[in-house]
This record gives sequence, structure tokens and C-alpha cells, in this order.
Amino acid sequence: MSEATAVLALAQRLARVAGALQRDRWESDLEIETKSSAVDLVTDVDRACEKLIVQGIQAERPHDAIFAEEGHGEDHPGATWRWVIDPVDGTTNYAHGYPCFCVSIGVERDGEPTVGVIYNPTLDELYHAVRGGGAFRNQRPIRVSGEDALARSLLATGFAYDRRDDPGPNLAAMEAFLRAGRAVRRDGSAALDLAAVACGRFDGYWELSLKPWDVSAGGLLVQEAGGRLSDLSGAGPAWSGDEVVASNGRIHDPMLEVLAEAGTSVESRSRA
Ligand code: 2AM
Ligand code: CA
Repeated sequence: MSEATAVLALAQRLARVAGALQRDRWESDLEIETKSSAVDLVTDVDRACEKLIVQGIQAERPHDAIFAEEGHGEDHPGATWRWVIDPVDGTTNYAHGYPCFCVSIGVERDGEPTVGVIYNPTLDELYHAVRGGGAFRNQRPIRVSGEDALARSLLATGFAYDRRDDPGPNLAAMEAFLRAGRAVRRDGSAALDLAAVACGRFDGYWELSLKPWDVSAGGLLVQEAGGRLSDLSGAGPAWSGDEVVASNGRIHDPMLEVLAEAGTSVESRSRA
């Protein structure tokens, strides 16, 4: 078994274990706290899931670095493998009982996203990808859609930014895509949005001000399903989460044009 295969198997097992905990605690009494702002939530389930995943990695792969949203990871400078974890992506949905959340586990080898696993416990859908090996949902290969007209495209976005203080430039982009596309969804889980692009449910997705753990697994799924992933310029990578545009490839340039025309640029973001 190659090392990537072993990493994949561990990521899949831990995603299922954490997802089962999310299902068990679904609509139970949660301890809900705020983090950076009144709209940035964390629950006891986020923390419990992260501990389960981190401890599972440490037990089998003690030398790997771990970068996890709730801070239970450990930095191992120089490590070949680094895990990038969002234990519950869609925490606001989870806290409100809206069934749209998942576990997202990406793993980098020498800084390059190499393994991606997303588990949606509500639908029991396990997505995975290994760089160069294609993308899968419940072991079946998935591909991005074949849609080539933005006007017929189903799009998705999100507002990770604290839009109460500052809605940022994404409202203008939202309005522009509501006119340019067929419809725009805003479901609240970046990882599930990216998985939906990978399997052709959405034709395109964009979002600003995300974090690496929101994008690591889902971005690889999109690439391995034949899609395109970029920043707003179309040339740069999206792995930081600052600017994420993901699509089936065919509508990518038209999406970048709409974003540019709406004034969604690095400059507009720093002005906002
Ligand atoms: P979370 O549920 O793990 O916080 C919503 O469009 C997306 O933005 C979700 O994936 C959500 O992930 C993420 N998000 C919410 N608040 C955020 C913040 N303050 N910084 C970065 N990402 C955030
Ligand atoms: Ca989270």
C-alpha cells in the first residue's frame, strides 16, 4: 500500500467516526459559543469531533503535522505530511438544526494538497480524492458538469466574512451572478459546496475570506473531478481560502469576468 493510500484510509475512517458523532448529537442540546464575532460559532460537537480526528492521527502517524480549525492540532516543522481539518464545516447550520454540514479532511504532501475526504453524515455521502487518481463519492467516480453556458448554470457562494460589520464586496458579486446565472444557492458549508461542484450538482462556486481548512479537501475534489480551481485572477492557487473560484472549467472564465465586472478584486477587498 502506498503512503497516500494509507493516509486516505485513515482520513476516511476518521471522517466517518466524526460524522457519526455529528449524527448522534443532531438536534440534541448543544453548548454553543461565539468565537471571533457573534456570527462565528463553535459547539461542543466541533471540539469533540476535532479531538477524535486529531487523536486518531496522532495514534497512527505521530510525525505528521496537523492544522485544525479549533486549535487541537500540532505543528511539526519539516513534516512531509500535514493534515488540514475542519471538524464541522457548516457549524451555524449544525447549531440551528439545518441539515447541511460535513467533516472536511485535506492532507498535504510537501505543501501540495494530495488527499481530500469530505463526509456528509446526513446523506451518508463519503467523497474522496487522491491527486492524480480521480474523485469519488461512495466509491463511484464523479465528474464536474458539462454545462457551458453561465446563463444555465446553478451557482453557489457563501459569506464567511463578518457581514454584519462589513458585507464586503461579495454582495455585488451575488447580485451580478443572480442576473448572469440560472440561480445562486447559499448553503453555509464551503466544503459541501465544493463537493457539489465536483459531482456536477453545482456548475460553479465562489467565495471570499475562507480558511485553508474550508478549501483543502474540496478544492482537490474539484480538480480531480475535472474542474478548475483558482483565485480571482484565474492564475493563482486558491488554497489559502482568501479567494476561491471553483467550476466545471467551461464556465470559469465567464465567472471570472462577472467577478471582475462586479468589482470583486484583491484591491476592492482591501478597501472594504
Ligand atoms: P465553518 O462552519 O467551519 O465556520 C460559509 O459560507 C462558510 O464559511 C462555511 O464553510 C464556514 O465554515 C465558513 N466560515 C464561517 N465563519 C468563518 C470565518 N470567520 N472565517 C472563515 N470561514 C468562516
Ligand atoms: Ca468548522
